[in-house]
Amino acid sequence: MQVVIKANYDEISKEAALTVKQRLMEKPSFVLGLATGSTPLGLYKELIRMHKEEGLSFSHMVTFNLDEYLGLAPDHPQSYNFFMWENLFKHININPRNVYIPDGKVKPVDVEEYCEWYESRIKKFGGIDLQILGIGRDGHIGFNEPGSSLGSRTRVKTLTEETMQDNARFFKDPSEVPTYSITMGVGTVMEAKEILMVASGKNKAQVIATAIEGGVTAQVTASVLQLHKKVTVFLDEEAASLLKRKKYYNFVAEAVKKFQAIKES
Ligand code: F6R
Repeated sequence: MQVVIKANYDEISKEAALTVKQRLMEKPSFVLGLATGSTPLGLYKELIRMHKEEGLSFSHMVTFNLDEYLGLAPDHPQSYNFFMWENLFKHININPRNVYIPDGKVKPVDVEEYCEWYESRIKKFGGIDLQILGIGRDGHIGFNEPGSSLGSRTRVKTLTEETMQDNARFFKDPSEVPTYSITMGVGTVMEAKEILMVASGKNKAQVIATAIEGGVTAQVTASVLQLHKKVTVFLDEEAASLLKRKKYYNFVAEAVKKFQAIKES
């Protein structure tokens, strides 16, 4: 796991977007796993800028979103489908047929079959090349709340009270926050070839320290990333403030750059 600490949110967004750009240029048909929430907004804004100002093309890219609220129609203003179109897709040249987001309106009776289908689509495209993640204050990735099996697959998950409170800021009335979601499982996320996590702000500092430097536990599902072979975590100073090995992570980041320069010379 590489931990990259930058001065502020703007810098982590730009750095993370640069990784997406590099991967996209290496493989135009690459499969990108996407997250919603406040944290990746800066990264999406930067991708939009790269499209408009640098001509970065997304026409062959395929995307799979991590999760969706169960019960919300795709055009519901608080649905993750709506969020993705508003904050990224409608501003870039993505082919709508290449966009996959769990369907919040799938009937409860059909949901298991639907989740299997979602997994099979990911497989059909050869798996996720790069998965973008945020992290919840309770350590969730996607909507894999504490206690989620570390081998779990796409399924229905009940949200914790903490997550419902955190997400209430997007709804007019807190009682409108759905109780259930469809989310890729921890096992599904772990199959991505590469993972990029972004976290910003003081309110993420504790969970970041626990997930990165604590033990691997289903109580903090993000901690399982310690077992993945290619993860980069982009943090601003505030989110990194409780890390014990911060100095070493900064030293590594510099050493990696130097090593890269040696390789290229
Ligand atoms: C949403 C998702 C969640 C968020 C997490 C953090 O698709 O995957 O795990 O990443 O709840 O949300 P923010 O970024 O709003 O703090």
